Parts: sequence; structure tokens; C-alpha cells
Amino acid sequence: RTMVVLGISGSLRMQSSNTRLLSSIGSMMPPGTEFRMYQGLATLPHFSPDLDGDEAQLDEAVREWREELRAADACVICTPEYARGVPGSLKNALDWVVSSGEFMHKPTAVLSASPHPDGGSTALHSLTLTLQMMSAAIPDKAAIAVPFVSRIIGADGSVTDTTISSSLRNLVTALTQQAAMD
Ligand code: FNR
Repeated sequence: RTMVVLGISGSLRMQSSNTRLLSSIGSMMPPGTEFRMYQGLATLPHFSPDLDGDEAQLDEAVREWREELRAADACVICTPEYARGVPGSLKNALDWVVSSGEFMHKPTAVLSASPHPDGGSTALHSLTLTLQMMSAAIPDKAAIAVPFVSRIIGADGSVTDTTISSSLRNLVTALTQQAAMD
């Protein structure tokens, strides 16, 4: 059966380098894989435990977010770093699935991309801690901070740096192999 991989960008920006990088990763998926892009980040309400109790009362966007995660065999999250942290909209989305547990044992690759030399590694570290707390399965070689992103990614999303593109391929292999074992 087809393996479904869900891409989640932490940037809402139209010309986001993280979203372009995610598309580029999507195009590297092996045959028999369907890559989907989660589009609902900005539609999620602000998380509050008060809104998270009654299933019948649950916000429709939250319901869809959880369903898209459940339908995915694996996830790829690609995020900017905002002020040394994960953007609020992405953290908000993750807070919505702490109680419902969609990330539990989910093979998940994590990336940060930034024009700065450290590639947003502080946000990547924070994202990793959050996902580990939710028991996501992050394979070895599936956590990458991409520095100088404005230089290495073209407008069409193609990655021009051969070292980065080879680590992206390794990431895709590690992620899909992990997902195939489940
Ligand atoms: C940034 N940027 C940034 N970069 C970084 O490496 N560390 C940081 O702490 C921050 N902080 C930060 C805060 C805010 C509010 C903005 C708007 C930007 C720069 C950021 O990496 C750059 O804008 C990226 O291009 C954002 O990713 P997208 O939108 O291109 O995917």
C-alpha cells in the first residue's frame, strides 16, 4: 500500500525557504510514497486545555490536523527559528496533539533552515525535545539544521549545495525505512 508522508512547515510566509525545502524533500520521496503538505497551521485556534476536553465540541481545524497526522505513516517538519525558538504557530499546533498522542511512535524527520551560519539549531533542538516528549520516533540522520538557506535553495525549490542535498537524501532514506518497518 502507498506510504503517506506529511510535510509540516513552521513558516506561514509566502516565499518561505522552509516550505520550499520541504517541497524539495517531498520530491525526493521513493516511488510508492505520497507526499502531502499540511496547510492548516494558521487556521488552528490558540491551544487551551479548556478547548481540548469534549470531542463533540472540538474545533474542526483541530479535528482535521489530528486526522491528517493519523493518516500519515511518517512526518517531516521543517521550521524557521524565531528569536531562538520554534515559531508560535508551530508550537501551538504541536500543543494541540500532546493529549491526543498522534506523534506517539510516529517516524518524524526534523529540520530547521535559516540564512544564519547555525541554521536555526536552537529551534531544532527545542523542536526535538518537544517531539521526544510526545514519543515521536526521530531516526538517526533525520535531524538537520540547514545554514545559509537563502544561498543553497533556488526559487524553484531545487537545492544547489551537494552536501546538503546528499544529507537530505539520507534523511528521506532513514525516514522511509523507519516507516516501512512499522
Ligand atoms: C528571524 N530569523 C532568525 N534566524 C535565526 O537563525 N535565529 C533566530 O533566532 C531568528 N529570529 C527571527 C525572528 C523573526 C521574528 C523573524 C521574522 C526572523 C531569520 C529567519 O531565519 C529568516 O527570516 C528565515 O528566512 C525564516 O524562514 P522562512 O520564512 O524563509 O521559512
